[in-house]
Amino acid sequence: FGVDSVVSLDDFERYAKDLLIPAAWYYYSTGADGEHSLFDNADAYNRVHFRPRVMRNVTDPDLRTKILGVESTLPFYVSPTARNGLGQPLGEIAVTRGAGATGILQVLSHYASRSLEEVISETKEGQKVGWQIYTSMDREKSAREIREAYRLGAQSIWVTVDTAILGKREKERRAQAERTPAAHGKPLSPPLPKNAYAHDTGLTWKDIDWIKSLAPGLPIVIKGVGAWEDVVLAQKYGADAVVLSNHGGRQLDYANPPLKTLHDLNVHSPSSIHQPDFQIFVDGGIRHGTDILKALCLGANAVGLGRPFIYAATGWGSDGVERAVQILKEELEIGMILLGVTRLDQLGPEYVDVSKL
Ligand code: FNR
Repeated sequence: FGVDSVVSLDDFERYAKDLLIPAAWYYYSTGADGEHSLFDNADAYNRVHFRPRVMRNVTDPDLRTKILGVESTLPFYVSPTARNGLGQPLGEIAVTRGAGATGILQVLSHYASRSLEEVISETKEGQKVGWQIYTSMDREKSAREIREAYRLGAQSIWVTVDTAILGKREKERRAQAERTPAAHGKPLSPPLPKNAYAHDTGLTWKDIDWIKSLAPGLPIVIKGVGAWEDVVLAQKYGADAVVLSNHGGRQLDYANPPLKTLHDLNVHSPSSIHQPDFQIFVDGGIRHGTDILKALCLGANAVGLGRPFIYAATGWGSDGVERAVQILKEELEIGMILLGVTRLDQLGPEYVDVSKL
């Protein structure tokens, strides 16, 4: 049926579950260990309530903002997710087209099914693409990759720092076990080799300077911050932005829901928020416009969504991505009007009750 009849982002997830081959569904949907962070990311939004204000002129809400200096029609972007090609032959290009049509930023994963070059060749005039990297133990390899992304015209470099080693993702391992024929005396599901992807376990804050030197002038975003103290350190060491994130619950189980980390920042270091040269993003569990508004009230400049765009592209390609953006836009407009604001910079902590967070 037509994509226009999809009503919410959760609908896309339900349809995708039926459409995807099991290995792809498990890969996309899995969390780490007992999936507590996966659940709590979304549930944290349920624990924050609004304090709407009325009798204000709420005609014509304006949802535009700037993300890393670039105009965005809406205060959210597409988080980098690996291997979009498992569920959709166009892979990340479906996202590129949908993001281009709706005027939002796409951040391409280091492990994308499509190359940065292919993705950039699909962009519209003025459309930007951010690029995410996991730095490697082989620093020269990482340096070459960052220089190449810079040369190709990536708009920003997102360094993911919560994945020094891969989390233990149980659904994915079970799916692997089902595909591996039982052999005498061999375990059904061999443990993944240690640090299979050879991610950089030696990375420290001082390396921000090294990364900056490889991509002069590009914003550097530190993705995967889970404690407010690390926001302060990211500022101190010259990052341009952070993503408060626990990798969609796929890495350290029981890592704080990012909304709680943002709340902690409000309590312990409010001066870190709304700095002119430093942005704060949040991702994980965001499924409705109201979730976005809550994060913005607590000082996020924008939010990222991962799985919803994969699921939207699964059935409908770029039309699905466009529809997902439209749904969030409508929800944001309704939410702002009913909250009593017309511009995103009017949002603040006075609009939310965080006593249950
Ligand atoms: C991810 N994420 C991710 N992050 C990253 O920096 N590089 C990557 O390659 C990937 N790959 C990836 C694959 C899949 C299937 C998922 C679901 C997630 C994490 C992603 O950027 C983001 O932090 C989460 O997806 C946000 O949570 P939600 O929106 O999926 O709940």
